[in-house]
Amino acid sequence: MRKNRFYITTPIYYVNDVPHIGHAYTTIAADILARYNRLKGKDVFFLTGTDEHGQKVDKAARERGRTPQEHADIMVENFRALWRKLNISNDAFIRTTDPEHKKTVQEVLQRLLEKGEIVKRAYSGWYCTPDERFWTEKEITGGLCPECRRPVEQIQEENYFFLMSKYQDRLIRYIEDNPSYILPETRRNEVLGFLKNNELGDLCISRPKSRLSWGVPLPFDDEFVAYVWFDALLNYYSATRYLSPAAGNGGDWWPAEHHLVGKDILTTHAVYWSTMLMALEWQLPGNIFAHGWWTVNGEKMSKSLGNVVDPAAMADKYGVDAFRYFLFREVPFGLDGDFSEEALAKRINTDLANDLGNLLSRTLTMIEKYRDGTIPAPVQARDREDLEGKVRAWFSGESDTGTAAALDGYLGRVQFHQALTHLWKVMGEVNEYIAATVPWKEKDEDTLSNILYTLAESLRLLSVYLWPFMPDTADNIWAQLGIGQKIGGLKLREAGVWGWLKAGTRIQKGSALFPRIDLKKNFGKKAPAGDKAPTPPEKKGGKGAEKDNLITISDFARVQLKIGRVLHAERIKGSEKLIRLRVDTGEGRQIVAGIGRSYTPEELIGKKIAVVTNLKPAKLMGVESQGMLLAASGSNGELSILIPDRDIEEGAVIR
Ligand code: ME8
Ligand code: MG
Repeated sequence: MRKNRFYITTPIYYVNDVPHIGHAYTTIAADILARYNRLKGKDVFFLTGTDEHGQKVDKAARERGRTPQEHADIMVENFRALWRKLNISNDAFIRTTDPEHKKTVQEVLQRLLEKGEIVKRAYSGWYCTPDERFWTEKEITGGLCPECRRPVEQIQEENYFFLMSKYQDRLIRYIEDNPSYILPETRRNEVLGFLKNNELGDLCISRPKSRLSWGVPLPFDDEFVAYVWFDALLNYYSATRYLSPAAGNGGDWWPAEHHLVGKDILTTHAVYWSTMLMALEWQLPGNIFAHGWWTVNGEKMSKSLGNVVDPAAMADKYGVDAFRYFLFREVPFGLDGDFSEEALAKRINTDLANDLGNLLSRTLTMIEKYRDGTIPAPVQARDREDLEGKVRAWFSGESDTGTAAALDGYLGRVQFHQALTHLWKVMGEVNEYIAATVPWKEKDEDTLSNILYTLAESLRLLSVYLWPFMPDTADNIWAQLGIGQKIGGLKLREAGVWGWLKAGTRIQKGSALFPRIDLKKNFGKKAPAGDKAPTPPEKKGGKGAEKDNLITISDFARVQLKIGRVLHAERIKGSEKLIRLRVDTGEGRQIVAGIGRSYTPEELIGKKIAVVTNLKPAKLMGVESQGMLLAASGSNGELSILIPDRDIEEGAVIR
């Protein structure tokens, strides 16, 4: 992987059906990394495409009364249209029916045959004719196909085999020597476990035309076509020969830096593809990243359940950027996730409308009000250096903790979730800066100018880093700040530097970035059984009952309430709800809070919260809790912790 080149791929998707949220997921992930690397100034080649041969596509075409090619020509447009809608910046789109691709497949087959890596062998196995596939002795039960329960027959046929088995040890060593070859680590361990505990067979790479003719013909035997996976995996290489920037320079773009795939196709990549490359004596890719699986409201997506999520519909309904953001903020890349529109709407309200949208509108409103809509020149007041310095440090290129270094680390390891968490931490810092400087009370004009510039410049820089995730939103923020340029095409080494924003720029305040969604109206439903539902006040005897519930001021004074700052937060193992917090309320204490369904531990750290400090200690799942934090519970069960409106020191008494 040459230093200044970045080649990234998605799987090529089958054209047997229309794209769904899973396809969108991998492709947006690749788009984020492609955009980020362009910002870094790399030459990027971002490839996606479609897998058009094989039995699945052949069958889907026949069911619709089309030839496979006609079918592919129709279906491929669904993918192209979706990528346009989702703002996917792929540099090329490969179809395995492209003549150039087929030619490469044939060249590779010929080469491997000549090298003695492919041999012809008799093969016998249990075949299910309606399903058109072989099963092993172990898989069939009572002579029936495990899938359709119809009788299987033993058939014998000759086929071509790639001698994959001989690469078993080399592959194990390669994966062991290259810790980031397969990520995440749990998947790497799975592949290693599989390779160490099983004997790798040879791979049947042909299909007799009599059974299936829709594929790349073997160049050395016209009775056969290539097995669809052998053909498909080679797309990653063949594209470098005819679709890459400055193609013609041949395989200059090989190897890829990342192959992003779902966990369903990790074996084909980690084992088939890696050993094919070894046999060809070509370099292996830098990394194969297998992400997790999306379910919908807890269920597997399937046509028969009618719960397949259409990414285009989600983008239309909630906005492309909100959808893109949600997929990568909600679930760490690598883990399985559950999709629900309600969860998406909540993210829009909290992270996008509140945290990001409010920061922008507050800033622009103040610039309008105090500086007549013009971004002022910063005049650094000496006594404020530490406050602005703290904000600037978050963006500084030099500091290790700065955003540039942090994002580079996270995105280099394909940790989208952590990257976004970091950006929201920065947003939190900027919001704290507003609380600490109290611009609406500032009497000194220079100081006020400085605060307003710091806010505008922070937003501008945040947008640069948000751009790979939410390109339109980032450009929209720039437009509202009055910047007449788009982020795409700029480089971090210029646009990522503090002070790029010119004083004197006229802002163009527009409408809210993300309108809030009325959760009650859209998702209002009774809390599911078992959850704490809000109970109406008991009515024993009209007004008298209310009186019975009244307490005196001295009753209330018995409860000690203080402001605490969250120093540390982590989930309690085995509980979805409980989070263990270290809180500084003037003195350190440990609190166990049941807020784990509404908050992640990371987002709690640094927050100032309200704490009951004289509660008798109690144990929750064996962990002692020294107090309780205050949180409001919405009718949908969502919790919101109470946070002081102004910055106030930890230990401050609440009355
Ligand atoms: O396997 N959650 O194509 P395919 C997350 N043509 N990701 C999902 C998903 C889900 N529920 N469903 C699908 C093929 N995906 C082959 C690939 S590559 C040389 C050949 C995504 O159309 C995920 O990336 O079945 C998965 O690996 C891919 O779609 C499978 O797409
Ligand atoms: Mg599939």
